[in-house]
Amino acid sequence: GGFALNLKKLLEENIPPEGLELINTVGKTASLLGMRAFLVGGIVRDLLLGQKQKDLDFVVEGDALLLVKELGKNLPTLKLISHERFKTASIILKNGQKVDFATSRVEFYQYPAALPEVEASTIKEDLYRRDFTINSMALEITFGHIGELYDPFGGFADLQEGIIRVLHNLSFIEDPTRILRALRFLGRFNFKLEDNTESLLLDAVSSGLLELTSPGRILQEIKLFFAEKDIFKILKLLNHYGVYTEVFPKAHYEEEFLSRYFTFSFEFSRYLKEIKIPWLFGVIGIYAKNLTEISKFRKKYPLTREEEETLIKVTKGIGEALKLLPSPRDIKGHEIYETLKNLPPEGFWALYLLLDRYRAKVRFRQYLEELRFIKPKITGEDLKALGLKPGPLFREILNKIKALKIDGVLKEQKDEILYVRQNYLS
Ligand code: CTP
Repeated sequence: GGFALNLKKLLEENIPPEGLELINTVGKTASLLGMRAFLVGGIVRDLLLGQKQKDLDFVVEGDALLLVKELGKNLPTLKLISHERFKTASIILKNGQKVDFATSRVEFYQYPAALPEVEASTIKEDLYRRDFTINSMALEITFGHIGELYDPFGGFADLQEGIIRVLHNLSFIEDPTRILRALRFLGRFNFKLEDNTESLLLDAVSSGLLELTSPGRILQEIKLFFAEKDIFKILKLLNHYGVYTEVFPKAHYEEEFLSRYFTFSFEFSRYLKEIKIPWLFGVIGIYAKNLTEISKFRKKYPLTREEEETLIKVTKGIGEALKLLPSPRDIKGHEIYETLKNLPPEGFWALYLLLDRYRAKVRFRQYLEELRFIKPKITGEDLKALGLKPGPLFREILNKIKALKIDGVLKEQKDEILYVRQNYLS
């Protein structure tokens, strides 16, 4: 054979020892069983780019189930999961990481909606089913061949030139989420679309392929967008390729606002730590300028109850805050508190950017830094000691005291007790 790029060194430098050990064991076991084993997909791409990678994906020329069964004998502490029907298996490493094994295969469908029949096949056929050339390289790890790059579609050259290229003209039709994947990789790596791929992508967009794709799968891609470092760049690409409002129905594309939203100030970032669902923080930015339209997003995608509730609370909370905070009248602290207390942290930054008056911003900051942390010093126990009967009244009293403390009417614990005596005990 001719020159084969060997990536053994790259493997050794970029994969942690536990991973390397696994790779070696897999390679030896495969070799003993007369199979060939490869690392495939994102990991090969990222190794060549010198980037750290999380997942190890293996493809076996042979039977992945048999290989994993044999591996289980050598690595008894690991958990094994097999899917007979698809000839795939996973193992869970001690650190909780999941490693997937697939049998290289061709899928053919007997009739629509049938499960794929699985047939053993070559690594080349496995790679041919993939999305882009840069994701269609394999790295052999069979004992004696470890680190040999198998690159039948020119992925390495495309990686060096910074090109996203499909393997064949039906790629986007087979899987329209690849439209979104393409834009995500373009943004992440700052690559370009190869000319033919670009026209195939535009055709796929204009023939409405994304509309036919399951919302759940598109939602998966949305979550991945918001896990990217430069999300703003990806949003620009979505807009440029005409899929922005397909993905985010009825959202306004406001480049200036989006740029500010996604480059939030360092100063503000401490509040962002309170965010529970980071990707929703992103969606809120997209819709911040026409927040009520976020209901279209809610209806389109299969959100969890918590996700849905967060969006509803943010819409409501920001709406109410925008009515109160800019008001020219003298607003009491407890009004600010009452209005903002149900706004989830996912909406903090959007609200801040939407407030254009200095006074309103000051009021919001006061809430963020001070008002929301004010609490009565007395507790239910103190109320009991004063001779009150536990019940709904306790909450009412404590809320009232909280409001008076926020407004600065009550200060010390003795003021609070005095207030209870005068108003609730007679
Ligand atoms: N793949 C594909 N078509 C898809 C999704 C995935 O062909 N719609 C293939 C690609 O070869 C990809 C591999 O499956 O490399 C693994 O997919 P995934 O883990 O989603 O992507 P990665 O390439 O690992 O990308 P990332 O770095 O974003 O995880």
